Amino acid sequence: MRKAIIAGNWKMNNTASEGVALVNALAPLVKEATCDVAVCVPAIDIPAVSEALKGTNIALGAENVHFAEKGAYTGEISAAMLKEYGVKYVIIGHSERRQYFGETDETVNKRTLTALKAGLIPIVCVGETLEERETGKTEQVLYRQLKEGLAGVEDLTALVIAYEPVWAIGTGKTATAQQANETIGFIRKTLGELFCEKCAAKVRIQYGGSMNAGNCKELMAQEEIDGGLIGGASLKADAFAAIVNYDK
Ligand code: 13P
Repeated sequence: MRKAIIAGNWKMNNTASEGVALVNALAPLVKEATCDVAVCVPAIDIPAVSEALKGTNIALGAENVHFAEKGAYTGEISAAMLKEYGVKYVIIGHSERRQYFGETDETVNKRTLTALKAGLIPIVCVGETLEERETGKTEQVLYRQLKEGLAGVEDLTALVIAYEPVWAIGTGKTATAQQANETIGFIRKTLGELFCEKCAAKVRIQYGGSMNAGNCKELMAQEEIDGGLIGGASLKADAFAAIVNYDK
C-alpha cells in the first residue's frame, strides 16, 4: 500500500507573511489527514513558514534546488540551505521551469541526484504538452523524461513522481481520471523497466493539473494515482484542505 501525498505548489505566490497566514488557517483544517501533507513554497518564505509549521502535520517543501553543493552560482539555493530550515521535499523539473528557465532532463537529473544525496525527497515532475499529446508522443516524451531525469538514481522509492500534463496546468482542464490513471500506469510500467518492478510498485506518483475540491475524489479513487500536486487550489486554506481531506 502506498501512502497518498497531497502537496501544494504555491509557485510565485504569497509573501512570507501571507504564507504564514495561509498555513495558520490550513493547519487546523488538515490535522486529521490520513495522507502525507506538504506545502512547497517560494525560497524566501521558507524561514517564516518553517516556523509556522512547527507542531503541525504539514511538511515543508521547496520549489527548486541547485545541483551544486555550494559555490559561485549567484541567485541559487543549495540543498544544505533548505535542509537547515527543515525542508523535506523539493519540486524538481516543474514544466514552468522547463518552459521558462531552460530546465532540461539533464539539469533535472543533476538536481535530483543532489537532492537525494542531501536527504531531501525530490518531487520530480514529468508531463507532455498539448501538441505532444495530440501528435501521439505522450509515451515517448514521458519515457525520455524518466530515463534521463532519473539516470543514476539508486533508490527509486526515495522520491516522488508528479505527472503533470502541461495542458492541464492552470487551464481549468483536468485530465480525466481515466486518462490520468492510464498515463500514470504507463509511468509505473516504465519505471519497472528502467529500475525494478518492486520499486516501481512502491514509488508514489501524484497527478497535477487543475486538481480541486470537485475532482479530487474521482482522481484519488484511481488505482495508480497516489496523490496530487496542487497549484491554484493550494492558495486557499479551505480549498486545499478539501483536497487533503478527499477521503472524509
Ligand atoms: P494548477 O493546480 O494551478 O493547475 O497547477 C498545477 C501545478 O502546476 C502544480 O505543480
